[in-house]
Amino acid sequence: MIEKNPRLQTTKVQVQEAKKTAADEPIIENVLRPKSLKEYIGQSGIKRNLQVFLPAARKRNEAMEHVLLHGPPGLGKTTLAFILASEMNVSIRTTSGPAIERPGDLAALLTNLQENDVLFIDEIHRLRPAVEEILYSAMEDYCLDLVVGKGPSARSMRISLPRFTLIGATTKLSSLSSPLRDRFGNVLKLEFYTEENIKEIILRSASILKIKINPDAAMSLAKCSRRTPRIANRLLRRARDYANVHDQETINSEMVLATLDLLEIDELGLNATDRKLLSLIAEKFKGGPVGISTLAAASHEEEATIEEIYEPFLMQLGFLERSPRGRLLTDKVYNHLALDKTHL
Ligand code: ADE
Repeated sequence: MIEKNPRLQTTKVQVQEAKKTAADEPIIENVLRPKSLKEYIGQSGIKRNLQVFLPAARKRNEAMEHVLLHGPPGLGKTTLAFILASEMNVSIRTTSGPAIERPGDLAALLTNLQENDVLFIDEIHRLRPAVEEILYSAMEDYCLDLVVGKGPSARSMRISLPRFTLIGATTKLSSLSSPLRDRFGNVLKLEFYTEENIKEIILRSASILKIKINPDAAMSLAKCSRRTPRIANRLLRRARDYANVHDQETINSEMVLATLDLLEIDELGLNATDRKLLSLIAEKFKGGPVGISTLAAASHEEEATIEEIYEPFLMQLGFLERSPRGRLLTDKVYNHLALDKTHL
C-alpha cells in the first residue's frame, strides 16, 4: 500500500472553479489571475510557443509533454500552469518540491491522477534526491518503480500510471539536475515584463477590483513595479488604500507618489533592502567583487533570498553583475544612489 502523508499538501482543482492557489498567496491574487491564454498579457515568446504546442496536443488527444517554467518570482509561473490545464480541459493538482517528503508521497500523488491530468510542482529544484529519482521513470515511461519493505524482505514493485503532464516551476534553473531538466519536452523562460505590459495588467486588475485609476497613474505604478505583475497588483492595492483613506474615488499620480513614498519604494521600484544591498557592496566592499555568503552575512539576508528575489531585478537594471569572484556593482549604481565613487 502506498502511504499517505497528512502533511503533504495538494490541491485538486477543476480549473474553471479554482479558488485556492499553491503556497500562501492571498485569494485576491487568484481573482486577478488571467484564466485563459487570451487574457494573459505579455510573455509573447511563450504564448507563441504555446499557441502551437497546445492545439497540437489537443488535436492528437494526448497529454501535453512535460513543461518546465523558470524565471524570477511573481512573473506568472503558477498562473501559466493553471492556464495550460484549463486550455487542455484537464484537472490540475498542485504541490511543491519541499512538500513531497518521501517517494511514497509522490507515488500517492501520481496514482491519484486521471488520464491527461496536470501535476504542478512548484519549487521543483527543492525535490529530495530520492523523490526525484522515482520521478524519472514516471515522466519517461509513466510507471513507478518502488521498493517496498526493508532489509531481506524488500522487493521492487512496478506500478503503471495514467499518462499525465508534469509542470515544474523554478526560480533557480541552475539548481535542477540535468537528468530532470532533460525530461521536460518544453522548457519555457519567463522574462521580466515591459512597462507597457505592466500598465495593461494594472488597468485590467483595477477594472476587476472596481478601482478607478488614471492612465498616467497606472503608468507611474508600472514604472515602480520591478516589471513584475505580482508587485504591480500589490502596489495597486496599496494605492487604493491610500485613495480610500483620503476619500478619493480615483487614483491619480500624486496618490501613487505618496503611496510609494510610504512604502519607501523609489522611482525605479527599488525598496529599502535593494538599496541596503547596493550600498553595502559600494561602501563596505568597495564595489565588489564580494561572495554571496559574505554579502548574506553582512546584510542579514538569506543567500537564497538575495539570489532568487533581489539579484535578478538588480541585474536586469544593469546595476549588478555576477562574476566567478563574486558580485560586482556597475557604474550606473553610483548615480542612482547618489554616491561618489571616488570617495569610497
Ligand atoms: N495578472 C497577473 N499576471 C497577469 C498577466 N500576465 N496578464 C494579465 N493579468 C495578469
